[in-house]
Amino acid sequence: MSIIKLLSKKTDKTIFTTPSHNQKAYFSQNLESFYKNDFSEIEGFDNLSDPKNSIMMAQARVSEMLHTKQTFFITQGATTALLAAMKAIIKPTDRVLVARNCHKSIFSGLILTAGVVDWFMPEFNPEWGIYTVIDEKKLEKTLELNDYKAFIMTSPTYEGVNSNIEKIANLCYDHNTYLIVDEAHGSLHYFSSDLGKSAISQGADISVNSLHKTAGALNQCAILNISHKIKNIDISTFQKSINLFHTTSPSYPLLSNIEACINYLDSKEGRAEIANLINEIEKMKHELKNFGVEFFDTANLDKTKILLRKKGVSGFDLSDSMYDDFNIEDELNNSICALYLTGIGTTKAKLDKLKNALKKLPINPSYEFQEAESQPHPLVKLQPIETFNRNFAYVNKEECLLKVSNKMLIPYPPGIGILYPGEAIQKWHLDYLNNDVEVIV
Ligand SMILES: Cc1ncc(COP(=O)(O)O)c(C=O)c1O
Repeated sequence: MSIIKLLSKKTDKTIFTTPSHNQKAYFSQNLESFYKNDFSEIEGFDNLSDPKNSIMMAQARVSEMLHTKQTFFITQGATTALLAAMKAIIKPTDRVLVARNCHKSIFSGLILTAGVVDWFMPEFNPEWGIYTVIDEKKLEKTLELNDYKAFIMTSPTYEGVNSNIEKIANLCYDHNTYLIVDEAHGSLHYFSSDLGKSAISQGADISVNSLHKTAGALNQCAILNISHKIKNIDISTFQKSINLFHTTSPSYPLLSNIEACINYLDSKEGRAEIANLINEIEKMKHELKNFGVEFFDTANLDKTKILLRKKGVSGFDLSDSMYDDFNIEDELNNSICALYLTGIGTTKAKLDKLKNALKKLPINPSYEFQEAESQPHPLVKLQPIETFNRNFAYVNKEECLLKVSNKMLIPYPPGIGILYPGEAIQKWHLDYLNNDVEVIV
């Protein structure tokens, strides 16, 4: 039976188990339906850490839909899925190549696995101030330099740029390197040919999707996908690894939400919604081009992403003005542009509101965009595992150059690190630091 059906079927037992609330909202009446479905792993329900029944069957059905060898449901976000993937693959002192535009959870994974990191710099577009693709030639040269256990990369990026996973997967395969793709922002790729192919279908060994980002699921819903082509590792290792990080009280509302989300996306209705969303976005973009609005575009773009800038206004001012004057909040912005995130649930009315605001947004005709500068290649002085729980001191900003940072500098969103503990502070970082800088002693 599916998890969704299991929850709708009333149990005839009087249950003296956790959670104590008896499926009633005592103090959060607005969450009544959530409480109604909030069970623990009672008799007849399955167990996420060793699924044999409804969870196992739901995972198997999703796995079939996504063409994976195994898909695991995770109720603690892509963060936990990534940690579990890393722990399954990476042993202490294994060398790991990581694309620098990774989410900060990868740094946590490096601490937890004691992997040795080399950072790989993705391409950077200074006209928009964003990272773009992984250059395959550069990657090939880097893979020649060391025996890397895994290459970890993000595709699509937050802004929707897809790398050529097929080529990257072949390179990794030739070098005996596992390819882990953080596909947190690409959950719709399985269900529309207009967005780019899924990482797994292109040969990635492992991918992670954050279903709450664009796929319409509740916060914290995520899946971890293992490919049929993965070699030299048993699937049970992933279950063991998930069990290291996952709560023993997974949320049934979230589990059923994961199942329902994929069912919906795979349905005729879900696929039509994605196609319609892309169509509405294209129409909006077309109309706004006559109003000085420019959209980031490239052949390998996930078309549901709206990254835009307007001639005559900086990205920061655009973001502020949209928020203050038009009540519209973006997902992220930089000095040049802003990202308006869309996905399942983005209505035409919402897009029209964005469109009308962008038309009216005031500009200063003499304002010119300044190109953005990419962060420098990190200077790693201590490996992530060596940086945890260290003694530190504060030094004056003027004296901190080339000292070893004890702090992460991570503008959020996008949650991409510009300085991690263990890295030497470079001139480029100074603008982001306060007067007292935390350094490892
Ligand atoms: C690329 C990327 N990976 C992973 C994550 C973590 O996802 P979650 O919030 O589902 O844990 C994020 C969150 O912003 C992200 O942008």
